Amino acid sequence: MKYKALYGTHDLLPEDSFKWQNLEEKVRKTISLYNYKEIRTPIFEETDLFARSIGQDTDIVQKEMYTFLDQGKRSLTLRPEGTAGVVRAYLEHSLGEKSPLVKLFYFGPMFRQERPQKGRLRQFHQFGVEAIGSLEPSLDAEVIDLSVKICYALGITDFKLHLNSIGCPVCRPIHRDKFLNFMKDKVGELCEDCKTRFLRNPLRMFDCKKEGCIEQLKDAPVMIDFLCEECKNHYILVKQYLDALKIDYFEDKTLVRGLDYYTKTAFELKSKLLGTQDTLCGGGRYDLLVEELGGKNTPAIGFAAGIERFVLVLKMEEKLDLEEKNLDLFIATLGDEARTLAMKLIKDLREKNIICETDYLNRSLKAQMKEANRQKAKKVLIIGEDEIKKGKAILKDMDSGEQKEIELEKIRGAF
Ligand code: HAM
Repeated sequence: MKYKALYGTHDLLPEDSFKWQNLEEKVRKTISLYNYKEIRTPIFEETDLFARSIGQDTDIVQKEMYTFLDQGKRSLTLRPEGTAGVVRAYLEHSLGEKSPLVKLFYFGPMFRQERPQKGRLRQFHQFGVEAIGSLEPSLDAEVIDLSVKICYALGITDFKLHLNSIGCPVCRPIHRDKFLNFMKDKVGELCEDCKTRFLRNPLRMFDCKKEGCIEQLKDAPVMIDFLCEECKNHYILVKQYLDALKIDYFEDKTLVRGLDYYTKTAFELKSKLLGTQDTLCGGGRYDLLVEELGGKNTPAIGFAAGIERFVLVLKMEEKLDLEEKNLDLFIATLGDEARTLAMKLIKDLREKNIICETDYLNRSLKAQMKEANRQKAKKVLIIGEDEIKKGKAILKDMDSGEQKEIELEKIRGAF
């Protein structure tokens, strides 16, 4: 075999695609209950859109983007996440003028050139929501509630909501100074990645999994202790709403997100079942992004979830919905006349939304029955020359094994 799927990419085969369809259907249904409308944005955008939104100093922009020049020598990038494209579309189509609060959701592939491992791919799939236009903490609570509700709707129980506030441009510099001051004598003890983070994106050190770095960060100043009045009040109200909705959360003072656009609320749903890549879903407020991309001051909040990670957890919890849409009817035929009749019948039955199949390989009756069985057909209709003469066919129920003669004209009514 000459060609293979690229490292970090996967084919979704028919034996699994129905599980994804079931999952997506439940997620869509839940998101729709919260009145979010679907948006589909392009898979590639101008590189600058992602660099400005996600942040020049993030791992994503520094080393993970699939960036290329097109024939017009423009720098384009396969989207590493959905928020930047959604905000671009929100501005381009003036969605904010049509409604003061715009609630959108999306599904689709994202691309990051990371080192693949369990739960980490180079082409992965997200669903996400973005609520653009309100600063109200009640909206934070709704968005968080939705992420939790989706887990329950799918049957996931092994997850924990981590919550934090990462402040705003008023309070963040004060914390940053204190943090850098605390860490400056410890830089020598940090791993190479954290040494770079110290210079470029210091708070990302909190994400380091290495023992040595965790030890050095043990008593480091955390953002939550430096929040300005506005951020503090916002955070208190978000927690009050979550309490009112009876949503359990863990106040995770070291929770930082890997994208620079966040302000105030940051949250993640984590599952121990996932191992190192334990985040099922992550999000938060990004009150400055719309303005940063050329719009008016427009606060917003959203989250995105990794579908592959949901599937992993659902498999481990044995909650993956395995209900497959199998064949309602297989028509086994003998001879050309029977085949013509079968083709006409199938066309008719499909009009009635009955899933049918017949034999296109000129197989023996025995082989056709075997095929019907392999495809888990609920019923098989057998049409041979004799049956045509009689104007009847044999209908076999594959579960009970019961067989009966049925008039060809009455087949439609048998379903
Ligand atoms: P993120 O934390 O970068 O946030 O990604 C969200 C989720 O996508 C992760 O929690 C994880 O489940 C999944 N994910 C990320 N990278 C990979 C990967 N390489 N392989 C498999 N799954 C992955 C965002 O993307 C933000 N846009 C979320 C957001 C929306 N914030 C506000 N609105």
